[in-house]
Amino acid sequence: MPSYRICFVCLGNICRSPMADVVMRQLVSTAGLDVQVDSAGTGSWHIGRGANPPAVQALGRRGYDGSTHVARQFGPGDFADYDLVIGLDRSNVADLRLLAPDDEQAAKVVLLRDFDPDAAAGDRDVPDPYGGPDDDFDHALDLVTAACKGLLNRLPVRR
Ligand code: 4NP
Repeated sequence: MPSYRICFVCLGNICRSPMADVVMRQLVSTAGLDVQVDSAGTGSWHIGRGANPPAVQALGRRGYDGSTHVARQFGPGDFADYDLVIGLDRSNVADLRLLAPDDEQAAKVVLLRDFDPDAAAGDRDVPDPYGGPDDDFDHALDLVTAACKGLLNRLPVRR
């Protein structure tokens, strides 16, 4: 089993959490850390589908490959598989805490941008870019990347 396991969770698991998944995988791999990185959505609409094409394209503009993603839904039984369950916005965090089977599992839920040292106090969400212009996807990817770098420095694992 990997020494640490994290799962990014957004609403659809086709835009924001797949981007976080791809960026964080790259960061932990470059750092040589034994960390399992996954993603999921609280909703069921897109189970089994690939990432939203604009998200794949935004990743591609930054040199990442988002083409292998398969969307899945996060359920109460999934908490046991992770050390940290990371919501992309505050509604994801609220939904996850309601979904958690007990307080111990609920305590694993955190908000991604809380790991970004430059995030302003009143600006903690990665906004949902679904259906929006490419700029919204690029912006979401910027926010995700900054927060994932902060998260990397806070993981309780050493190489
Ligand atoms: P995501 O974006 O949560 O970043 O994957 C969404 C994708 C699809 C929907 C909502 C948000 N949807 O309602 O289908």
